[in-house]
Amino acid sequence: MRGLPNFYHSYTFFFFFLLILFPAYSISANTLSASESLTISSNNTIVSPGNVFELGFFKPGLDSRWYLGIWYKAISKRTYVWVANRDTPLSSSIGTLKISDSNLVVLDQSDTPVWSTNLTGGDVRSPLVAELLDNGNFVLRDSKNSAPDGVLWQSFDFPTDTLLPEMKLGWDAKTGFNRFIRSWKSPDDPSSGDFSFKLETEGFPEIFLWNRESRMYRSGPWNGIRFSGVPEMQPFEYMVFNFTTSKEEVTYSFRITKSDVYSRLSISSSGLLQRFTWIETAQNWNQFWYAPKDQCDEYKECGVYGYCDSNTSPVCNCIKGFKPRNPQVWGLRDGSDGCVRKTLLSCGGGDGFVRLKKMKLPDTTTASVDRGIGVKECEQKCLRDCNCTAFANTDIRGSGSGCVTWTGELFDIRNYAKGGQDLYVRLAATDLEDKRNRSAKIIGSSIGVSVLLLLSFIIFFLWKRKQKRSILIETPIVDHQLRSRDLLMNEVVISSRRHISRENNTDDLELPLMEFEEVAMATNNFSNANKLGQGGFGIVYKGKLLDGQEMAVKRLSKTSVQGTDEFKNEVKLIARLQHINLVRLLACCVDAGEKMLIYEYLENLSLDSHLFG
Ligand SMILES: *[C@@H]1O[C@H](CO)[C@@H](O)[C@H](O)[C@H]1NC(C)=O
Ligand SMILES: *[C@@H]1O[C@H](CO)[C@@H](O)[C@H](O)[C@H]1NC(C)=O
Ligand SMILES: *[C@@H]1O[C@H](CO)[C@@H](O)[C@H](O)[C@H]1NC(C)=O
Ligand SMILES: *[C@@H]1O[C@H](CO)[C@@H](O)[C@H](O)[C@H]1NC(C)=O
Repeated sequence: MRGLPNFYHSYTFFFFFLLILFPAYSISANTLSASESLTISSNNTIVSPGNVFELGFFKPGLDSRWYLGIWYKAISKRTYVWVANRDTPLSSSIGTLKISDSNLVVLDQSDTPVWSTNLTGGDVRSPLVAELLDNGNFVLRDSKNSAPDGVLWQSFDFPTDTLLPEMKLGWDAKTGFNRFIRSWKSPDDPSSGDFSFKLETEGFPEIFLWNRESRMYRSGPWNGIRFSGVPEMQPFEYMVFNFTTSKEEVTYSFRITKSDVYSRLSISSSGLLQRFTWIETAQNWNQFWYAPKDQCDEYKECGVYGYCDSNTSPVCNCIKGFKPRNPQVWGLRDGSDGCVRKTLLSCGGGDGFVRLKKMKLPDTTTASVDRGIGVKECEQKCLRDCNCTAFANTDIRGSGSGCVTWTGELFDIRNYAKGGQDLYVRLAATDLEDKRNRSAKIIGSSIGVSVLLLLSFIIFFLWKRKQKRSILIETPIVDHQLRSRDLLMNEVVISSRRHISRENNTDDLELPLMEFEEVAMATNNFSNANKLGQGGFGIVYKGKLLDGQEMAVKRLSKTSVQGTDEFKNEVKLIARLQHINLVRLLACCVDAGEKMLIYEYLENLSLDSHLFG
């Protein structure tokens, strides 16, 4: 069959001998041909060509049920990424995987199939072969055609609880499958659990986390760069995300561009979505990202027309122009009843839109999308339709493009300290009017104030310059050089500090203040994985800002008796002590009863290695 029949016969003969001589002989090839089989008793496996993945029978935990699965060969910690017969285990330690009637089947002790690829019909002309690829895909294909069109069946179309690089989550027109991941029942039990993560193709596609029949969390739609509900998502080193919407498919996938970097997205048996990356030095999986993260990630936390802000207390707020539907329950911090309009829409004209910034778009399952028009036409389109309640861009790249409109209620909205996008919500003229006037007044007066400030600043600057010149003339050369170097240093330090702050209120503190939310996001919500160390004063975390800057966060323990003013004084002192050989203090954070110091992050090195080489 592999070319000459003679060869084939001598092969089987040879194999037969091997099997007699070494019953535990492992095939260790990356293919399984029609004449070969995998059995529990022989303990043989199929290994992908580059030794990345391995397929075979396994027994999780202590019970006696056997499964056919795929795990990493290249990684010491046994991690299953796919299970064939998750809901139909073998009850004894007798089991066989083979190709039979153009299908892959798993047979039990009485040769009854417990699992099959269930392919029907089809004129299969040449023999089939099953192959494990280096990306973890197990394919059944024509033995003479290794091109994609020779593939009859692939495990990537039937995910278990793990999304591997190059594997697609979502809908494929050719097979009609909407591939999704579903959790294990428990860490020792691969059978189908309660939680799944599945793409909703209706409306503006987004991915939902389900607990059985109820929605728990949604990713938000893809906005050209990331999911609307995952503001911290960005192309990382070695990792590329891909969301494709076309007639042929609506899919999400990711790619790893370096061969020895391992990353996987999986859903735990307790319903947490997690991305892990393998850390070779630690011989462990590091949690890189997870969701849901906070109260505001909970689906419909603030009901209809409410939005969740994890920086406010309570977290639920009504959109401008709306008020709590049930003020009493709202006051008791249950936002799920949502909000109602203060003034009904008139439709006839005069309606307008309030612009909400840095938002996660509302549930888009029933929204409609027109990628061909921009934000101006989108506004017109929404105004023309009396049922239209909101609109936004579908793609935030550049100055934004595309149009998504909602008709009916808006729900599951939240805002972010960083990230998110503009959402325009329709309001009646009266609810807009007073706002317009007020903002006009504010703009008017702030322009006046700014002009005044600018003028006085220029005068002050000119005066200062004149003074400085006269001082410099009097100082000796050496002293002058030293001083100007110091001045330069200070300027560099200060400007680099300014750089990371937004327009924060720095009053008497030279150091920028960061918001708690910003620090929390940068440190993955103070996750244990980001912990660098711990001392009597508190815990130190590693963090990364959205712009990529790394930092070390010292979170002072809450039990510290120091007051906020003393803390600020001390920080001021440290800030003034900035020196070229000291780790630089970048910012501090006094927020939500927390006190934190944010330092520059130094890779992998401690002070002594700097001092003593
Ligand atoms: C199968 O082989 C692996 C390693 O090659 C070994 O750890 C395991 O105990 C073996 N299982 C059986 C049932 O022999
Ligand atoms: C194959 O078909 C059987 C019977 O219809 C079904 O129980 C089983 O789940 C199917 N297997 C797969 C892998 O779809
Ligand atoms: C994204 O995936 C689609 C098909 O799934 C593919 O055609 C496209 O080239 C991919 N884009 C990138 C940047 O990898
Ligand atoms: C607006 O909604 C109502 C009730 O849901 C429906 O009957 C009507 O056809 C809708 N109008 C448009 C223009 O879609």
